Amino acid sequence: MLLPLQRFAFASDPERIASSRLPRPFTRPFRVPPAATRVAGPDPDTDYYVMDMVPVQANIIDGLATTMWGYNGSVPGPTIDVMQGRKTVVRQRNLLPNNHLGQPTTTSVHLHGSASLPQFDGYASDVIGQNAWKDYHYPNFQNARTLWYHDHVVHQTARNAYMGLAAMYRIFDPHERSLPLPKGRYDVPLIVRDAMFDPRGQLLYDDDDNSGLMGDVILVNGDPWPVMKVEARKYRFRICNASVSRSFRWKLDSGDPFTIIATDGGLMPAPQVVGSFRHGAAERYDVIIDFAKYAPGRRVVLRNMSNPNNIDYTNTAVVMAFDVVAAGDLSNNEVPSQLANNNDVMNLAPTQSVKTREMRVERSNSMWTINGRTWHDVIRSGYKEVFANPKLGDVEIWNLVNKSGGWFHPVHIHLVDFKVLSRNGRPPMAHEKGPKDVVYVGENETVRVIARYGPHLGKYMIHCHNLAHEDHDMMVQFEVGTGGPDPILADPAKPMPSPSGF
Ligand code: C2O
Ligand code: CU
Ligand code: CU
Repeated sequence: MLLPLQRFAFASDPERIASSRLPRPFTRPFRVPPAATRVAGPDPDTDYYVMDMVPVQANIIDGLATTMWGYNGSVPGPTIDVMQGRKTVVRQRNLLPNNHLGQPTTTSVHLHGSASLPQFDGYASDVIGQNAWKDYHYPNFQNARTLWYHDHVVHQTARNAYMGLAAMYRIFDPHERSLPLPKGRYDVPLIVRDAMFDPRGQLLYDDDDNSGLMGDVILVNGDPWPVMKVEARKYRFRICNASVSRSFRWKLDSGDPFTIIATDGGLMPAPQVVGSFRHGAAERYDVIIDFAKYAPGRRVVLRNMSNPNNIDYTNTAVVMAFDVVAAGDLSNNEVPSQLANNNDVMNLAPTQSVKTREMRVERSNSMWTINGRTWHDVIRSGYKEVFANPKLGDVEIWNLVNKSGGWFHPVHIHLVDFKVLSRNGRPPMAHEKGPKDVVYVGENETVRVIARYGPHLGKYMIHCHNLAHEDHDMMVQFEVGTGGPDPILADPAKPMPSPSGF
């Protein structure tokens, strides 16, 4: 089970395709990812799915096919929608080939945003080998939110997610459904990421000695810089930054603001109106854009103003365009001034905390570490080493400290939602005033976050979501209580063939 620490590269001296061969912005139509198709199963209160991880030929560069990896052959994968209180079981089958450097193609699937049991959380070392399968059970008791599922395998997460193993997952709940927010086709996933290509049109992986991968092509739901036809009304966009490393700073070229209604853990207490905001890898922000004042024929461009320590290219300053084509259907076209009704995490107060911990994200001896420790140390300890061991239900404050001016780190804590208390002693930014599970720890920033550790016992990962950092090797774990299910041994993957039913 102990996998070697390896530095993966698609090419040792990467040569990029000529920029003249890259697609031009706003030449492709916008698409939403397909909806996942349920299959039959025994429990009437559970939705069952089967996903095959397989190669797929994507059409990104005109005239060249790009090999990617998709859940059910789709990049991004199919969107799973579920009502709070229903369970889901997703059978994941790894039918991927060896990659072309001959490394075994193992996977692990994490549903990011779900409080799943340890053995279903995509624990990095709980791997699905080639020609193996595993059923992931998801509880969906949490409030409405935008989640995403993506690969999480030990030391190869960046490669696997970059190859396309990422998709959206939405939990709805009765309270959120009762609000007059945009719904149905006006509730739109935007999975945004970057990529770079070699002269044959294949994905190039170059993370600059593990500092980060910064591609020159921006993909939205798998397509480069698409154009979406919109009606003159409000839309809810669920923006998920699925990049390996890149962060964005959104702005509309019209100068109009975004109304942020939800963060990683669901609805904010109150909507926040912002002209621009920064968005690190793996964060989700649900924003309302109102096209009502535009006459048909008007184009609005979603721009990216970028942030320090990204590498920007000619066309990374734009992301997609909206062409207003018609007057709008005006039902469910409002943003109430109060959104979440009673969100436990947003009600947490520092006085409830029983422990304050410091977590330093830093580079040491050319490795990315958390307080000097790595996932390799966790492996070497037989998965015993933990950063923290809160009791079930304990409230703790963690100070996430980045002393470097040269890097930003989107820090993710599994299992819990947290509230951002402060950044460098000042209140959180407007767009972060909602429940979170990833926070942007920018250059020379200290971010204080508070969470209640639970509701499950067991071991869960903490890591930087710059996947090049995570893989090398900025990931540790915490354990809630003692005696929780073992993430590796409780329900390991099994060799194919999988059973024909559930
Ligand atoms: Cu989005 Cu530990 O992952
Ligand atoms: Cu997660
Ligand atoms: Cu990092």
